[in-house]
Amino acid sequence: MNPSRCLILLFTLLCAACSESQPTNPSADNLSLAGERWYSDEQVAAGALVFQQNCAVCHGASAQGTVEDWRERLPDGSFPPPPLDGSAHAWHHPRSLLIQVINEGGAEFGGKMPGFDSALAQDEKLAAIAYFQDFWSDEIYANWLQMGGVN
Ligand code: HEC
Repeated sequence: MNPSRCLILLFTLLCAACSESQPTNPSADNLSLAGERWYSDEQVAAGALVFQQNCAVCHGASAQGTVEDWRERLPDGSFPPPPLDGSAHAWHHPRSLLIQVINEGGAEFGGKMPGFDSALAQDEKLAAIAYFQDFWSDEIYANWLQMGGVN
C-alpha cells in the first residue's frame, strides 16, 4: 500500500472510532444526564416532611425561594434565603458543604439562617437535601457532580 492510501485508511478508521465511541462509551456526564442520583425516592419523601417543617418558611414549600430577588441584600445588609431548587447557586456546593450550612446556618458570615446541628439527625439533613435536589434538572445535577457533588 502506498503511504498516502495508508494515511487515508488510518484517518477513516480514527473517524469511525470517534463517532462510534460516543453512544457505547458514555462519559460521567452522560451517566448523570441519564438520571442517576445519590438518593432514593424514600429519602425524597422523608425530606419533604423535614423540609416543610424546618425550611419551607424561608426557602419556600418547593424550595423556590420566598423573595423576588435573592441576590439583593435586605435593609440590614444580610441576604434573603435563596431558592434551593436549582435556580440559585446551591449546586455550587458539594454535599459536605450543604450539610455544613445546614448545621451551622449563616451566623458566621452575618447571615440569618439558623443552624440545625442538634435540631435534626444526619439522615434528616440528607433527606432535606434529597428533597430540594429532586427539583434540579439533570443538567444542574450534572454540574453539581462536576463541582464536587457527593464529596
Ligand atoms: C429563618 C430562615 C431560614 C430557615 C428556617 C432555613 N434557612 Fe437556609 N438559608 C437562609 C438564608 C437567609 C440563607 C442565606 C445565608 C444566610 O444569610 O444565612 C440560607 C442558605 C441556605 C443554604 C445555602 C444555599 C446556597 O445557595 O448557598 C442551604 C443549602 C440552606 N439554606 C438549606 C436550608 C435547609 C435544608 C433548611 C431546613 C433544614 C433551611 N435552610 C432553613 C434562611 C433560612
